[in-house]
Amino acid sequence: MRTDSAQQILQAAIQAGYLDEERPLAAFVDTNGVAKTISSLHQSFPDHFIHAFAAKANAMSSALRLVKAQGMGCEVASPGELEQALRAGFEPEEIVYDEPAKTRKVLEKVLGLSIGLNIDNFQEFERVRGLVGMTGSRSRIGFRINPQVGTGKISAMSTATATSKFGFALEDPGNRAAIIEAYRANPWLTSLHTHVGSQGCSLELMTSGIRKVVDLAEAINSAVGHQQVQVIDIGGGLPVNFDSEEVRPTFSEYASALQKAVPELFSGEYIGKTEFGRSIFAKNGFIASRIEYTKVSGGRRIATSHAGAQIATRTVFMPDHWKIRLSVFDSSGEPKTRGEEVQDVAGPLCFAGDIIATGRRLPLIEPGDYVVLNDTGAYYFSNPFYYNALCAPAVYGAEVNNHDSVSFSLWRPQQTVDDMLAVIG
Ligand SMILES: Cc1ncc(COP(=O)(O)O)c(C=O)c1O
Repeated sequence: MRTDSAQQILQAAIQAGYLDEERPLAAFVDTNGVAKTISSLHQSFPDHFIHAFAAKANAMSSALRLVKAQGMGCEVASPGELEQALRAGFEPEEIVYDEPAKTRKVLEKVLGLSIGLNIDNFQEFERVRGLVGMTGSRSRIGFRINPQVGTGKISAMSTATATSKFGFALEDPGNRAAIIEAYRANPWLTSLHTHVGSQGCSLELMTSGIRKVVDLAEAINSAVGHQQVQVIDIGGGLPVNFDSEEVRPTFSEYASALQKAVPELFSGEYIGKTEFGRSIFAKNGFIASRIEYTKVSGGRRIATSHAGAQIATRTVFMPDHWKIRLSVFDSSGEPKTRGEEVQDVAGPLCFAGDIIATGRRLPLIEPGDYVVLNDTGAYYFSNPFYYNALCAPAVYGAEVNNHDSVSFSLWRPQQTVDDMLAVIG
């Protein structure tokens, strides 16, 4: 999000009393920003592409209803995400199910409701084969293919390595022939799916994986003598740049790279499908935390905030890969710009590594200021965890009207201690 939009939302939130001494941590989603992002996605790809939102990026019901209203479907990967998508009003045919460890029960539900299904491996395929006839399912079904094109910058987020836990390993000995035969013998297999990685993968790596999957589709279709594979699902994974306000790369840059590498996807020969998550929400959301204390220890300046690993989990545990921009505002939400010092910003949790920024040059932070954790609209506040039994913060949808007023909707209230203790058990 641009700093001026974050500032506008932050100031309005402080004025409305959504952030103060009693409520020192809250998260915000710029709803118009999400709508604009989705509109740029639709404009960048031809009409025969269907875009499903990856619910894991933000599975809150308001988030799912927002993306649905903007014309997206939904990619889900657990029984909980599936239930949330159904409750948000997605039609079964708008949903695609991707979990790697699907139980028989969940497969029965997915097939029974005719929800799209991406099969991970041959053991799952055997289960699905048994169920397809029994349920009379109209699900669009296919395999998730691991094209084994290698790793991106973050190995933990790279899903198309030679040994990845996801999908059917295309290049292992005998596998290409086995998958072509599986499609030949089972005409209800009509789609192919791949997802090369989530953050840290170059457009080149992503498109090279998709190229291999389209080649496989062509091989299957020529082996069966007609176009049995009709849908190519290219997954999500468009990386988000966390180092500036700029959106880089854009959906249209990705579409251009795809068009060069895989023109078949743009000819109308196949229905194209995408599953973007991070690129829809990350830059349209932020977390704001009040600074409780500041101190100097052994020459190190430390500002203690309320945002730590409970909400910025990846940033704390893998700081080199998930560095986020911080902005500093005073207690009324005015940006601080002067008096830069090298500082660390710590979270509230009881371990020394609970740090969200180390050695950062920032305007001198003082108690009562707010730090904004930029670009955290995806995979941050929607997935809190409960180390130290901290309550999950409130999340607000913020609609910026004509650049001068902001209307808020409560997406999730701040968790009460009782509710949090009930979750912990
Ligand atoms: C199968 C699948 N599709 C889509 C996504 C969404 O990826 P991203 O949020 O990077 O777009 C993921 C993320 O892990 C995934 O595993």
